[in-house]
Amino acid sequence: MSTIDFETLKQRFPAAADIPEEFRLASPIHQRISLVDGEFVNWDGACKTVLSPICVQQPDGSVQQVEIGSYPVMGDTESEAALDAAVKAYDSGRGEWPTMAVAQRIACMQDFIKRMVAQRQLIVNLIMWEIGKSLADSRKEFDRTVEYMAATIEALKEQDNSNSRFIIAEGTIGQIRRTPLGVVLCMGPYNYPLNETFATLIPALLMGNTVVFKPPQYGTLLFYPLLEAFRDAFPKGVINTIYAPGAVVVPHMLATGKINVLALIGSSKVADHLKKQHPKSHRLRAILGLDAKNAAIILPDADLDLTVKECLLGALSFNGQRCTALKMLIVHESIVDAFLARFTEALGKLKVGMPWETGVNITPLPGLHRTAYMTDAIDDARALGAHVVNDAGGTFCQTLFYPAVVYPVKEGMKLYREEQFGPLIPVTTFSDIETALEYVITSDHGQQVSIFGSDPAQIGELVDPLVNQVCRVNLNCQCQRGPDVFPFAGRKDSAEGTLSVTDALRAFSIRSMVAAKQTEDSKALLDAIVNDHQSKFVNTGFIF
Ligand code: G3H
Repeated sequence: MSTIDFETLKQRFPAAADIPEEFRLASPIHQRISLVDGEFVNWDGACKTVLSPICVQQPDGSVQQVEIGSYPVMGDTESEAALDAAVKAYDSGRGEWPTMAVAQRIACMQDFIKRMVAQRQLIVNLIMWEIGKSLADSRKEFDRTVEYMAATIEALKEQDNSNSRFIIAEGTIGQIRRTPLGVVLCMGPYNYPLNETFATLIPALLMGNTVVFKPPQYGTLLFYPLLEAFRDAFPKGVINTIYAPGAVVVPHMLATGKINVLALIGSSKVADHLKKQHPKSHRLRAILGLDAKNAAIILPDADLDLTVKECLLGALSFNGQRCTALKMLIVHESIVDAFLARFTEALGKLKVGMPWETGVNITPLPGLHRTAYMTDAIDDARALGAHVVNDAGGTFCQTLFYPAVVYPVKEGMKLYREEQFGPLIPVTTFSDIETALEYVITSDHGQQVSIFGSDPAQIGELVDPLVNQVCRVNLNCQCQRGPDVFPFAGRKDSAEGTLSVTDALRAFSIRSMVAAKQTEDSKALLDAIVNDHQSKFVNTGFIF
């Protein structure tokens, strides 16, 4: 019998005095600055209070979310200033940053990485406190980001070195390199506030673009310790920050036509709306990571131990708040009872608690609206004939929500199509494989799928149509983005563009070339430019 109920969940929240010393925030962070044109600009206007997902016990016996700081709520005037600073720093491609030699840009980035690494402990703590991610996963997010940055630098060296030569074709001499696109508006998501923001911001910067950066609504304060590093490691105006409701300032910034690239990890609805704001939409490149509803198709011959383990990880890592999470389990009817029994048993062993607790799996969600949504989705499914099949599934206290396995989920229920982005596991069945395939085909989403089974003929037959529906088919493992050298993309409402260590460098740049007729005069001219180091673009130098 489960021991989870409202009271036990409530007791998982600590008293303030019980929070281990090393994981406490020394004091709330009340950020009152933004970074614009290389300067910290003071803000004395309205501010937003930041409430942690983590609650603490109160003298009156209740538990309440902890206030961990506040940040500015700016508006159009401030967003214009940030945008104009980025435009000025780009200076139509003549700015210091876009014309800087690649090796020098790399040196700036390496300097930034050193400064960032010095802030690791504080940033990891802030990830925990701002979004409720476990300590282990918060550390992983930080370290993975640093590794991603180092790998991106290596990939850029490789790319630049391979372009450090002339090509001769049909009597024309050419040198082709990748060049920046202009001003990038960069917005990351709350679930990977550091990692996914940097997955676009870092390649955008390295390719010579200038940036306006708007942090996510949850996960803003964790960038505060990096503002000095942004200011000191890069030339002024290369990176500018804005703290404002996206719905207010972002359409306004796009409507100016001054933004060349929209890098957004968020929802397809928002992305659609934003893209339309640009006066010349063909001038706007969009790099988008959007909605997903990845399914696991569990075949009758699946290894159930492995399947349960991977589906649990896939559905519930970081409480299911991953775009790559498994958000629908489609199980063959012949094994659904066995699967549910083992899955719910394994789920019952997950540890529920605070992010700093060793081995914790289920942690608080970012706000009461999230527990309200989960409850509403369960009520909707129940009203239409489904049940919560695990003990205590759906029980919650404030921000702490106990995962619910909901079965049988059918067309018409919210959970059938909506991206729940939280600790709900909808399960449905199939008898004919066409039914499972149809679910993926008729979905608005097209990111990834997992197949669990062992018959090569059946799996082979499924893979072929599925690779044309999604961008990654995982065999006997959960869906995921990594390793970061692999292409991360999606079809339909799930993405635009491809990210990976190398793909992102391409996404934030365009090839440009210098060409000349293959004459003696041209050869002499190009020789002189190269030998006398007259150009950053026309050169044959090698970056070691
Ligand atoms: O939220 C979406 C992330 O890109 C998922 O990344 O598969 O590495 O957890 P992950």
